[in-house]
Amino acid sequence: MKMVKNREIIYSDLKYPEDFIDKIICGDCLDLIKLIPNNSIDIVLTDPPYGLKKEVISGDADLNLFYKILSECDRVLKDNSFFITFFSTKFLPCLFVNNPFNYFWQIVLYCPEGRVRSPIGYTKFMSCFIFKKGEPKIICWNKDIFVDTPGRMVEPDEGYIDHPTPKPKHFIKEILKMFTKDNDLILDPFIGSGSTAVACLQLNRKFIGFEIEEKYYKIALERVQWALRPALKESGKTIKIGR
Ligand SMILES: C[S@@+](CC[C@H](N)C(=O)[O-])C[C@H]1O[C@@H](n2cnc3c(N)ncnc32)[C@H](O)[C@@H]1O
Repeated sequence: MKMVKNREIIYSDLKYPEDFIDKIICGDCLDLIKLIPNNSIDIVLTDPPYGLKKEVISGDADLNLFYKILSECDRVLKDNSFFITFFSTKFLPCLFVNNPFNYFWQIVLYCPEGRVRSPIGYTKFMSCFIFKKGEPKIICWNKDIFVDTPGRMVEPDEGYIDHPTPKPKHFIKEILKMFTKDNDLILDPFIGSGSTAVACLQLNRKFIGFEIEEKYYKIALERVQWALRPALKESGKTIKIGR
């Protein structure tokens, strides 16, 4: 109840773009995305709850949340843009149901240390699916398979990331280099521990991130402050990322 009250106050205060660009906002993406104007985002890159019923992930009971955000992502994306999403192998056919975008390609992260059980034993990869709105152009040619960093939930330069499903930022950066340019605006409605924001900062892209759980929101803010350290040191300034 307290949380809902807080969100009401925040939502009525928020103004686009100043309170959104290069910010992570703690709240429900279904409410927050409504405050973003039509045709204003260069790409969506996200990692939604997959309906795997993981109790540690909000909204993971089924795919309703994903379907609801899809149409809003279509509205806020510019014409000729990409919608990029991680998705579960288990529910893959569901990704193509009521999907307003056209399928383009799949990029795989090979996880040699993968320990997730599957009907065939253990699964050793995760997939990121690239969809198109219109006819966007690739920015930089690359390949479609990358290798996960060693260590579970560990970033080599940051250490342990206290989130159930952090995605490696080196993989996100490879995707960003392929599909975005300097200063492009990337929306991640399910930003979790902030991997997309950190990758954007390191590549000079702009971002908007939403996260419903305060614990993960705070982790994302800490990671963003960590990523900003070199720039802040140079300028002597402080920057406010959270709301
Ligand atoms: C699969 S995780 C994303 C992990 C992220 N890619 C990372 O590297 O940390 C999905 C996230 O969506 C958040 N979430 C669930 N429902 C949400 C909602 N309605 N609005 C915003 N965030 C939500 C969850 O709390 C979770 O942190």
